[in-house]
Amino acid sequence: MKPRPHFEHPIDEILQKRWSPRAFADKALTDEQVLTLFEAGRWAASCNNEQPWRFIWSHKNGSEKYIKLFECLTTRNQEWVTTAPLLIMTLVNTLFANGKPNKWALHDLGLAMGNLTTQASIMGLYVHNMAGFSVEKAREVFTLPEEIVPVTMAVVGYLGDPSMLSEFNQGREAQLQERKPLKELFL
Ligand SMILES: Cc1cc2nc3c(=O)[nH]c(=O)nc-3n(C[C@H](O)[C@H](O)[C@H](O)COP(=O)(O)O)c2cc1C
Repeated sequence: MKPRPHFEHPIDEILQKRWSPRAFADKALTDEQVLTLFEAGRWAASCNNEQPWRFIWSHKNGSEKYIKLFECLTTRNQEWVTTAPLLIMTLVNTLFANGKPNKWALHDLGLAMGNLTTQASIMGLYVHNMAGFSVEKAREVFTLPEEIVPVTMAVVGYLGDPSMLSEFNQGREAQLQERKPLKELFL
């Protein structure tokens, strides 16, 4: 179990329990569970209600789509990602409907993923986001219009037994979840 941080102020239990595991239980999610997560994302706020977030996702089912997603990951992430039942790529539409650049698209995708993550916590699920993937590979294996930009990948699932991980990743799993003190954030 993850060593818990010290909270300077009491936040809701649902927010307290979130962390980014690498060991996931071998338990599939239902389509309904997955759609509930994206539904939570769909209701996030966005600049001009543009809803720039996009997702490519697959259950861990050996499908062509799962394999394409998996192949985009760095080998370091591939090592542990196979434990998770749901694999996601997040993308943004970088243009507003009127064709002008939407410089808030990344912000709004973050809000959507925040919603998705909180919904996951409520459902007893955990999310692990990843920057470790190839955008070029994603463009190669998925046909993406130029304005659609891959941003992150993520996995979702139930907590698993860390002993399934490599020694290196078991060490990371046991690390204290650390944060800068609140006062360092105020400029
Ligand atoms: C945008 C983003 C990219 C990340 N990329 C990776 C990654 O490629 N591989 C990985 O193992 N963890 C990745 N992480 C997880 C972070 O390392 C983790 O969130 C951070 O250390 C804080 O830990 P916590 O989420 O358990 O509180 C990423 C997290 C975010 C939000």
